[in-house]
Amino acid sequence: MPAKGLICAGGEATRLGELTRVANKHLLPVGSWPMIYYPLQLLQLAGIRDVLLVTGKGHAGQMIDLLGDGRLAPRGGGDPILELDLTYKVQTEPGGIAQVVGMARDFAAGAPLVVVLGDNIFEFAQEDALRDWAGSPDRARIFVKEVDDPENFGVVVYGEDGAVADIVEKAGVVDTRFETPPSSQAVVGLYCYPPDVFDVIAHLAPSTRGELEITDVNRHYALAGRLDASEVVGWWEDAGKHWAHLADIGRRIDETGANKRAAT
Ligand code: G1P
Repeated sequence: MPAKGLICAGGEATRLGELTRVANKHLLPVGSWPMIYYPLQLLQLAGIRDVLLVTGKGHAGQMIDLLGDGRLAPRGGGDPILELDLTYKVQTEPGGIAQVVGMARDFAAGAPLVVVLGDNIFEFAQEDALRDWAGSPDRARIFVKEVDDPENFGVVVYGEDGAVADIVEKAGVVDTRFETPPSSQAVVGLYCYPPDVFDVIAHLAPSTRGELEITDVNRHYALAGRLDASEVVGWWEDAGKHWAHLADIGRRIDETGANKRAAT
């Protein structure tokens, strides 16, 4: 069964201050596009057609006005920007990324699922790793990138065999087993799951911050020996970090492009 896609585009985006008092973070401009186009395009380049978009309450209307059924022609004509089949759902209370993934159960209907956070932007569309995962969709896959601020992320700990042995979510704050992050290999917002992910989520308990953690889902697969980790090819940005960052990322996209098809 072909994989389906999920975009997590909820949240209050308080880190972006005045910009997101009324506007939805995912509709803010990054380069020449609204932020949300980039993760949608990444799913399309992975060969995915059916995509569920989960937004917070109060923002679904704007999102539907912009994206419609998922077929988006550029203003003034030309090749379509997106040719997806979009479905929408509303998350009424913020409860964590794993809760959003759990909302995709009926939509997935037994298919494997590729999940992208709506504010994550990649230089390359990670096609090789996504194709590789599609060949063994009974396994889960995460993507990692070396960062300077690992305390802000989930980080991966590798065992001696090179496999992921553990994942630690915001060390000292969410995961209190560690005071400081045990590595600087951050887990980015792109995840691939087999169809049993919904059973894993159904058995999760909320974390210390009261959320269902995607890191707990990933740790489950790591402990079961069913998790692969791919190094992100090219740059990766979490566009929801700071308002000043939005313009920097836009300039970066201007210089290098985004969601490129292959490393040159
Ligand atoms: C989430 C995940 C974290 C991951 C990050 C990537 O964090 O919980 O593991 O490293 O996304 O952007 P959040 O910033 O949503 O708390």
